[in-house]
Amino acid sequence: MMAAPTRNYKLPARKVKPVSKNSTERGPSQPVSSNQLFCHPKLGKLVGKHLANAHHRPPAPHTLRAFRHASDSLAGRDKPLVFDSFCGTGMSTATLAERHEDCTVIGIDKSAHRLSRHGPIQTDNYLLVQADCGDFWRLALAAGWQLQQHYLLYPNPWPKSGQLKRRVHGCADLSALLALGGQVELRSNWQIYAEEFGVALALAGYHPHIDQLTPQNPLTLFEQKYAQSGHKLWRCGAKLVHNSTSATRNLEGSEKWTS
Ligand SMILES: C[S@@+](CC[C@H](N)C(=O)[O-])C[C@H]1O[C@@H](n2cnc3c(N)ncnc32)[C@H](O)[C@@H]1O
Repeated sequence: MMAAPTRNYKLPARKVKPVSKNSTERGPSQPVSSNQLFCHPKLGKLVGKHLANAHHRPPAPHTLRAFRHASDSLAGRDKPLVFDSFCGTGMSTATLAERHEDCTVIGIDKSAHRLSRHGPIQTDNYLLVQADCGDFWRLALAAGWQLQQHYLLYPNPWPKSGQLKRRVHGCADLSALLALGGQVELRSNWQIYAEEFGVALALAGYHPHIDQLTPQNPLTLFEQKYAQSGHKLWRCGAKLVHNSTSATRNLEGSEKWTS
């Protein structure tokens, strides 16, 4: 299924129901509920702005430390890189490391609590870092990293219409995500989220593929929970090209971050 075009839909005035907390510890989760019934009418304008402008906010100190740790861990390993952004407990990171045994897989999540539930590292070709994904992407780009694969598995949906800028495709770090290159795969239990990501990819000149997914072996805890709760699951993917121009643009001022 192709991404839906962005149009100026008039949003019906409806009360937004609270979204399920989606905790993996609680009972079945509710499907995503939103006052937004189609792709966001401001998506095109916002994506255009992010693609045209580099984002120079200095990275958070904890992400800078995490990036240095990851860089040190990669020293001497000359393997293709895979990112598992928003990795939660890192269950997917360990599985992806088995699947991509010739690669180094980096699982990134901001939650120390979630990461602490990972248990012992199972193979030596992955690592988990506590970091902000957007900052980490920009640091990786500034350091010249290129990705072979980039998984974005069930990022928080931020389903209220007013929360567009918090979604992956609405955030200012979108251009860094795209410029890192590689085969990108986003999964969501909210169809509109996957479609909006597809629209952002199309606006950046790619040809996204969106389909529905029925996982036999769930890759993540949230995937498992959503599948058990009967949610429809969506996947959006495209092959991205590493963009060294964008990397150069993102390098401006980065010596301040990394020195
Ligand atoms: C819905 S959970 C999905 C976790 C995992 N991918 C899964 O499917 O089980 C979203 C995750 O994104 C993480 N997260 C949200 N915003 C983040 C950010 N800016 N940087 C890094 N992690 C973030 C949260 O801590 C949470 O673990």
